[in-house]
Amino acid sequence: MASILLTGGAGYIGSHTYVALTQAGHDVVIIDNFSNAGRGVPGRLARITGAPVTCLEGSVLDAQFLDDVFAKHSFDAVVHFAALKAVGESVEKPLDYIETNGQGLITLLRAMEKASVFRLVFSSSATVYGIPDETPTPETAPRRAINPYGFTKIMGEEVLEQLATNDARWAFGTLRYFNPAGAHSSGLIGEDPGDTPNNLMPYIARVATGDLPQISVFGDDYDTPDGTGVRDYIHVEDLAQGHVLSLDALLRSSQSHLVNLGTGQGYSVLEMLSAYSAACGRDLPYKIAPRRSGDVPIYCAAPEKAKKLLGFEARRTLQDMCSSSWNWVAQRPRGN
Ligand code: UFG
Repeated sequence: MASILLTGGAGYIGSHTYVALTQAGHDVVIIDNFSNAGRGVPGRLARITGAPVTCLEGSVLDAQFLDDVFAKHSFDAVVHFAALKAVGESVEKPLDYIETNGQGLITLLRAMEKASVFRLVFSSSATVYGIPDETPTPETAPRRAINPYGFTKIMGEEVLEQLATNDARWAFGTLRYFNPAGAHSSGLIGEDPGDTPNNLMPYIARVATGDLPQISVFGDDYDTPDGTGVRDYIHVEDLAQGHVLSLDALLRSSQSHLVNLGTGQGYSVLEMLSAYSAACGRDLPYKIAPRRSGDVPIYCAAPEKAKKLLGFEARRTLQDMCSSSWNWVAQRPRGN
């Protein structure tokens, strides 16, 4: 059992990781500023785990807040989710992204160093591959920033690499997520974007609940089997398990690792729509719309390295992703 600080632990992936870490026997403290997380999430985490949740409100940009948290608790490691993550918004507000994702990471690392905590799992993204030359994409593929969000993830990875290379006290688990989807089997936590969703799965979910009239399929003339964009969707509970394995590896070996977290299996927009329609029991309306600027035809992970290094393998199916999402959105408490 280890003592873990989870930044951004009330968010979508963070909350599922909280459950997975707690169920693996770890002692977890959450910090979150609730900029993109419901205030009801800690209470629902307590219901899922059957134990009280320690959740402290504050920002990773606030050095004093972090010092206080590290002074009150003795941590073995940190799992760092707290960051901004919308590609389109990052183009409009690049400095916000560089500040929260870049400076937030540095402020956290400084607080960790002061408290002598030298193990961190970092949320990276497949977005670091930019427009990949190769799919499935292996971790050795070059990093290319095609928007400010991607830049901040590359920057984070490079900062950690410099630290690990030059200061033997540090070790990092860098996890490049493909497309997270689905919700917890309890139906108590899931993805809950405040505004109109940008990403496909939460958008489909809103159409399924009747909150939005129809899905726009962004392009049907890509060089893919049915012409629509293909992505490697991974169930958020599998993704959460990846963090447990990454942390175990870090605490066991003190060796840094960098891996993709995906399934290796891509699905098109039309396949997603059809799977979700089956899950919610009605054909969801859609229209073909122009391509979205900046989109690539296919993103798909080479998953072998994560399996070899961490023993990670995604177990849940596309049906599991759609049915758990539907189970969550059909009953969720709105906006908390
Ligand atoms: N799509 C639609 N209609 C929508 C929304 C999306 O057709 O309303 C399509 C997109 O064109 C794309 C696919 O659905 O083909 C997936 O789009 P998402 O917006 O859900 O996800 P992206 O793959 O564009 O991006 C996400 C994250 C990135 C991350 C990337 C990694 O937002 O941060 O996955 O694969 F880098």
